[in-house]
Amino acid sequence: MKAVSEATSEACLRLEDKIVDRSARVCVIGLGYVGLPLAVGFAQRGYQVVGLDIDARKISALVDGRSYIQDVESETVADLVARGLIQPTADYEILCHVDAVFICVPTPFDAMKAPDLTFVRSAAEGIAPRLKVGHLIVLQSTTFPGTTEEVVLPVLETHGLKAGVDFFLAFSPERIDPGNKVFTVENTPKVVGGLTPLCARLAVRLLGQLTPEICVVSTPRAAEMTKLLENIFRSVNIALVNELALLSERMGMDFWEIIEAAKTKPFGFMPFYPGPGVGGHCIPVDPYYLSWKAREFDFYTKFIELAAEVNQSMPYHVVERIGQALSARGKPLKGARMLILGVAFKRDIDDARNSPAERIIELLLNAEAQIVYNDPYVPSYMVGQDVFHRRRVTFASRELTPGLLAGQDVVVIVAGHRVYDYPWIVGHASLVVDTVNATREVSDGRDKIVRIGVPFSSNW
Ligand SMILES: NC(=O)c1ccc[n+]([C@@H]2O[C@H](COP(=O)([O-])OP(=O)(O)OC[C@H]3O[C@@H](n4cnc5c(N)ncnc54)[C@H](O)[C@@H]3O)[C@@H](O)[C@H]2O)c1
Repeated sequence: MKAVSEATSEACLRLEDKIVDRSARVCVIGLGYVGLPLAVGFAQRGYQVVGLDIDARKISALVDGRSYIQDVESETVADLVARGLIQPTADYEILCHVDAVFICVPTPFDAMKAPDLTFVRSAAEGIAPRLKVGHLIVLQSTTFPGTTEEVVLPVLETHGLKAGVDFFLAFSPERIDPGNKVFTVENTPKVVGGLTPLCARLAVRLLGQLTPEICVVSTPRAAEMTKLLENIFRSVNIALVNELALLSERMGMDFWEIIEAAKTKPFGFMPFYPGPGVGGHCIPVDPYYLSWKAREFDFYTKFIELAAEVNQSMPYHVVERIGQALSARGKPLKGARMLILGVAFKRDIDDARNSPAERIIELLLNAEAQIVYNDPYVPSYMVGQDVFHRRRVTFASRELTPGLLAGQDVVVIVAGHRVYDYPWIVGHASLVVDTVNATREVSDGRDKIVRIGVPFSSNW
């Protein structure tokens, strides 16, 4: 191991002191679902936080004290901004006056499902010319193993400073679960992988102000891989139950009953639930980051592909079930009136990115069904008119009234928001297709409900 120079140790100690006495200035780049709660977390602990985002609408909302993230209260933002603890800005020059920077920008994939690191690169390019001796840079965006060292590090070093010597570099994945009231930034353990032991030590010091439990791994790539393992684990297990749900439908069993029974085993089993498919920024995207990188090593990640195949087939299955349910009532899909309940990618949240609702609605539009939707958390929703997204259509959420429910040939529950009154919904609807077992407690009108994972005969 190389000896650490005196200058590097001193720079580390200086930043450590600033972290401990809370005079360290923290910058969060990318103020979305991940970045804004992080900025708020540090500001609430008394750190001066710069919130940097290229989206002018987000910056002006924050300057006005308005939050656009469901889990962050506007009141909290307004208070922290008024007290100068959060300074929202779109100006990268501010980086000359901070000590630590978290990068929380998007990591989508392109049309060929290859990683698109445009945002990560542009954030690193924005930091590089303003980098100072003693800065700590922590990448939080989910990405393939190697990104911190192979992509971010070279960009940061373009102006002469050396990572691990002049400035500190680490990767720490974000584990935030939007809508989860139990596990938040404060009580979810973090994983940190530093370029050097001092890089890890500083990242732990700073993140330790937010959360008490931190697991340090040997390298940034180990931390990057940890995050992917967590998300691939979910994707594969969701695919497993989706497949078994389809089998149960065919074999004449209620798969939800089987999950409940299996859950009684106190060890070695963890429940996952079938549904209309996976959505959001993580589960449908992140596994591809690893399968893409794996190819560099002549390795084909079969589980990832298989899980994606099963999960991506679920919207098609939902539409098939809707067609069967209507046909059993003598109605074709074509021209059928349908209300989609919940277009967010999962219950109780306002994030509709990559939601399975999108493909379901596109397929239904292709079949010439007449679609309306309601989602209390998503006021408007855009989908492609066809699966190739050749024409986009924007829908506005309709008010949920007895008349709206009664006027439909079928009501399709895609996101099982807990604010919905399911007995009331079933009471007014003539037919319900439930993709998430949201109607499990409904006792009246069960003959009108078709559930994924349950054969027709059990419902009707
Ligand atoms: N949303 C989640 O639940 C979640 C959970 C864990 C990890 N992640 C990961 O965290 C990362 C961020 O996800 P998110 O959901 O917060 O994304 P988001 O789209 O909600 O927010 C990202 C923000 O970054 C801004 N941005 C983009 N490029 C920028 C740049 N060069 N400089 C400054 N700002 C820039 C965007 O304007 C946007 O406001 C992704 O890698 C994602 O996979 C997300």
